[in-house]
Amino acid sequence: MAKYIVLLGPPGAGKGTQADLIAEKFELQHVSTGDLFRENLKKMTDLGKLAQTFMSKGELVPDDVTIAMVRERLNRTDCKKGALLDGFPRTPSQADALADMLSEFKSKVNLVPYIFVPAEALIERLSGRWTCKTGGHVFHEKYNPPRMPGVCDLDGSELYQRDDDKAETVKNRIKVYNEQTTPLIEYYRSRNLLVEVDGTKSIDDVSKELISLVEKA
Ligand code: AP5
Repeated sequence: MAKYIVLLGPPGAGKGTQADLIAEKFELQHVSTGDLFRENLKKMTDLGKLAQTFMSKGELVPDDVTIAMVRERLNRTDCKKGALLDGFPRTPSQADALADMLSEFKSKVNLVPYIFVPAEALIERLSGRWTCKTGGHVFHEKYNPPRMPGVCDLDGSELYQRDDDKAETVKNRIKVYNEQTTPLIEYYRSRNLLVEVDGTKSIDDVSKELISLVEKA
């Protein structure tokens, strides 16, 4: 049966870093709404241009637009074995929409690891983050440096710093997360799906914990 895992956590908690590692190990598709919006922006689609007006301020893209994009992505054949959702859902109505979508596939969310990291650490992580232009792979100048500065270890493409990682935008992203996304902690806890994971540990230790959770799910 297909497996659907939702990685929950604040901006900079390590969702994308871990999703890349775990999706590969378990042959699940890594579905990141942030990456999907950024790919649309690169291609200058209407969706990308609309999303950018919210992303540049650290605000959430409206639910209807985001839900329609995820529905289309999960319907593709490469998601039939399941997906690792990174950055979605982010509001209770997105979570309800996800449950409805998965029930159409006769499936459900199997596990919600909640990666928690204090706000001070998030700012340091985001200001030192370098992202790959082609595959969205992430590095950190101190905690996970690429072998060659400015070049992605995995596909050799150029690394860049995201526009929304500027200090003011990061502060707003954390505020928006606290106001709009933290209700999902109780949403999934009350459905016995939430497992807390200490995201202040090293990347390797967080991975080991997540791998063991996914194996049991
Ligand atoms: P999105 O791209 O999803 O950003 P985010 O959720 O804010 O998360 P990040 O990608 O910033 O962080 P992450 O947790 O993946 O951390 P990472 O692994 O990179 O969303 C961007 C925007 O798109 C939103 O603001 C919104 O506008 C829009 N959007 C997206 N989804 C939406 C939705 N569902 N609804 C509406 N709007 C939506 O790690 C960060 C850094 O830390 C890296 O440098 C990494 O190397 C380092 N690091 C990772 N783990 C560790 C560790 N254990 N120790 C030390 N360093 C570490």
